[in-house]
Amino acid sequence: MKQGLRKAAVIGAGVMGARIAAHIANAGLDVYLLDIVPEGVDDRSAIARSAVDRLLHMPVLPAFTHPDNARQVIPGNVEDHLHWLRGVDWIVEAIVERLDVKQALYKNIEEVRNPECIVSSNTSTIPLSELTRGMPQGFARNFLITHFFNPPRTMRLLEIIRGPMTRAEIVRTIADFIDQDLGKSLVECSDTPGFICNRIGVFWLQCALHEAIRLNLSIEEVDAALSRPLGNPKTGIFGLFDLIGLDLIPHIIDSLKAGLPDGDPFHAYSKIPAVYHNMLDRGYLGRKCGSGFYRIRRVDGEKISDSIDLASGDYRQTRKALLELPDQSGSSSLRALLDLPSELGRFAWKVVSETLNYSAGLVPEVARNLADIDRAMRLGFNWRAGPFEMTDQLGIDYLETRIRRDGKDLKGLLNV
Ligand code: NAI
Repeated sequence: MKQGLRKAAVIGAGVMGARIAAHIANAGLDVYLLDIVPEGVDDRSAIARSAVDRLLHMPVLPAFTHPDNARQVIPGNVEDHLHWLRGVDWIVEAIVERLDVKQALYKNIEEVRNPECIVSSNTSTIPLSELTRGMPQGFARNFLITHFFNPPRTMRLLEIIRGPMTRAEIVRTIADFIDQDLGKSLVECSDTPGFICNRIGVFWLQCALHEAIRLNLSIEEVDAALSRPLGNPKTGIFGLFDLIGLDLIPHIIDSLKAGLPDGDPFHAYSKIPAVYHNMLDRGYLGRKCGSGFYRIRRVDGEKISDSIDLASGDYRQTRKALLELPDQSGSSSLRALLDLPSELGRFAWKVVSETLNYSAGLVPEVARNLADIDRAMRLGFNWRAGPFEMTDQLGIDYLETRIRRDGKDLKGLLNV
């Protein structure tokens, strides 16, 4: 355990907060886990308590390294137990991705926090300059962003963002703890919307979603294409939407839309399509509720997998997509995929080339160098190669020839 960090608190016991609390407990710290008071139940700390209970019963990839660690997570709520924060050295905020709600919470934290206590946000997109606007200097000096990835125990990346007022000592304390005790790799990012991974990763997801709908592709085809052939996880695009949570994505998009300048290419893909809205209306939020772009049903004891049909918005039985590629794990499969003489090949080229081109335009805005961007995408999205490594793999001759042939304006990509 690091000197200076004896006790922590996590506020927000949702997908991320509960797992972050569990992982801090895995490192040996006691940690309070607070959420709002739910309506209509006797237990005012039910949200945090049931979150810990759920983590204890996870069938795969358990959040706790040992079930006993759960005893170090103390559930509470932000109405009755905010005074507990007086005794902690580090508060991690992991509540809903809305600036107004986060700032309202910070004001309450400020009333009870001890002056040395470090506060960090797990925000996916909101710049630190926005989060700390209007907050007292003492808060800003002790505030940073620690952006964990999902699931926090196993994803190796942590993006760290400091502001002009953030004290160097607190960055060191938190960076040491996260590196040595939580076992994460740190990438320091500029204070820009979406930092590195979500700026590129959400562009990637949205570009694929829009193109899949436009070209009338199935979600199985898309996920088969934009996964193994690139050396990326088999969740592909739609499996990843399900993992992140469909309800979170619109908040991330709104935040990127609000923060990025008008000319940013992200805006072309920022619309939430009707099929996605329909899913939200029907409560299909992804893995957290069992139904998203994919769902598993049990019929007579047998598991049946369904997929959303992007054209109708309804479920139909999952159909395995077969890709005729030479080698689905080596780097040669990337070119083979982009060269497929089919709608799927044209789709893959469009999404890959647009994303590489977008990434090329982000240096030095979002990170000090290309290597940090590649490392962040490898560790945060589990890509085999980051965008600049992919550009290298494809080779400038190949890219030039294709870009010339397609008459596309992807000049940034050729200037890397
Ligand atoms: P979630 O919706 O699963 O959980 C949010 C929790 O915060 C809920 O339990 C809610 O009741 C609670 N909450 C809302 N307002 C509150 C308040 N004023 N005080 C106390 N609790 C409050 O959200 P999720 O996905 O865990 O996201 C939390 C944060 O982590 C967001 O900033 C998100 O952008 C970020 N994040 C999410 C990732 C993901 O894959 N879901 C990955 C990385 C970051």
